[in-house]
Amino acid sequence: MAQLNKFIPYGRQNIDEDDISAVAEILRSKWITQGPMIDEFEVRVAEYCGAKYAVAFNSGTSALHGALFAAGIKPGDEVITTPMSFLATANAAVYLGACPVFVDIDPNNYCLDILRIEDAITARTRAIIPVDYAGYPVNMEKIMKIARRYNLLVIEDAAHALGARRNGQIVGNQADMTMLSFHPVKHITTGEGGMIMCNNEEYYRRLKLFRSHGITSSPEQMERNEGPWYYEMQELGYNYRITDIQCALGLSQLKKLESFLEKRRQIADIYNQALGKIEWLKTPLHPPYDDSHAYHLYPVLIDPEINRRQIFDYMRSRNIWVQVHYIPIHLQPYYQKMFGYRQGDFPAAEDFYAREISLPIYPGLSEEEQDYVIEAIKATKF
Ligand SMILES: Cc1ncc(COP(=O)(O)O)c(C=O)c1O
Repeated sequence: MAQLNKFIPYGRQNIDEDDISAVAEILRSKWITQGPMIDEFEVRVAEYCGAKYAVAFNSGTSALHGALFAAGIKPGDEVITTPMSFLATANAAVYLGACPVFVDIDPNNYCLDILRIEDAITARTRAIIPVDYAGYPVNMEKIMKIARRYNLLVIEDAAHALGARRNGQIVGNQADMTMLSFHPVKHITTGEGGMIMCNNEEYYRRLKLFRSHGITSSPEQMERNEGPWYYEMQELGYNYRITDIQCALGLSQLKKLESFLEKRRQIADIYNQALGKIEWLKTPLHPPYDDSHAYHLYPVLIDPEINRRQIFDYMRSRNIWVQVHYIPIHLQPYYQKMFGYRQGDFPAAEDFYAREISLPIYPGLSEEEQDYVIEAIKATKF
């Protein structure tokens, strides 16, 4: 097959002239940081997801840190999550001195195995962070039932799942708090950026405090008021603020979200059809009838008898920048040193890691480029 001269990444942003104009407009305006775009972006995303409140942060990671702070996570607490995620999911708990307790993945949908959650609950458990891996909406109804039974909070890491649906409802309103990421490979981007959505006013207040040094200038929230200049630090917070420049980009991107999702789903359908019959490769599971996948990633699993590394190297030699998502968090040296995790602790996640390859999926992937990827996969099998 002919070599394509450009690189095809596994994911990338889709920026058009409207996005550029929206950002340029803000650069010419009075406010480039804490202006009206932030509120507007929060309101629009919350509306889309059916949530009451949204607080935008300068990354998905800082947003998760904020959510766990708002949830009252303290040193010594335990937070249950999946080892098959980006490090930020578990790191957010570590930032607050809590211990991430991993639960192995369900080998069908690659999300945390709901049947194993209860075994991991102890007297110190405070929260569960399920991840909608690749954009597959986890069964939140079942997770919430367990959480309510044990008085735990659920913070959904939906970094991969903006626009996914469960029971016909857009993800974002079913957990106690839901986190989004707007990193460039995600469904919409603000450069770096993230958000927490919730329906609880107290979480909302704490999230806003945390985002900006723990400071409030709202007279009704202050312990005292020394004058119009007065502000009050009530908690230890950070500078996790997002800018108006970024939110103008986010608002412009949001208008195109449905078309981006449609394109991702079309790409997934074409892969499913073209690769579904290859016996040495497994395509991702379709969610149940009323649910829909957001396809942030398109993960395929290679048969254990076949050398995944050779396939990976071959694809890269064809300029197809496939990736592996993810190295299970418990295998990282830091997690092994700090929390005593070992190889073998979560066999399903480790098996998945040994066999996974993420194929390119993003709205700008052309039909010709996707055909090239499919041809390359078919030309492999070592
Ligand atoms: C599942 C998951 N959680 C959290 C994050 C962190 O988000 P951000 O990169 O916006 O900080 C990512 C980002 O890649 C992610 O994939």
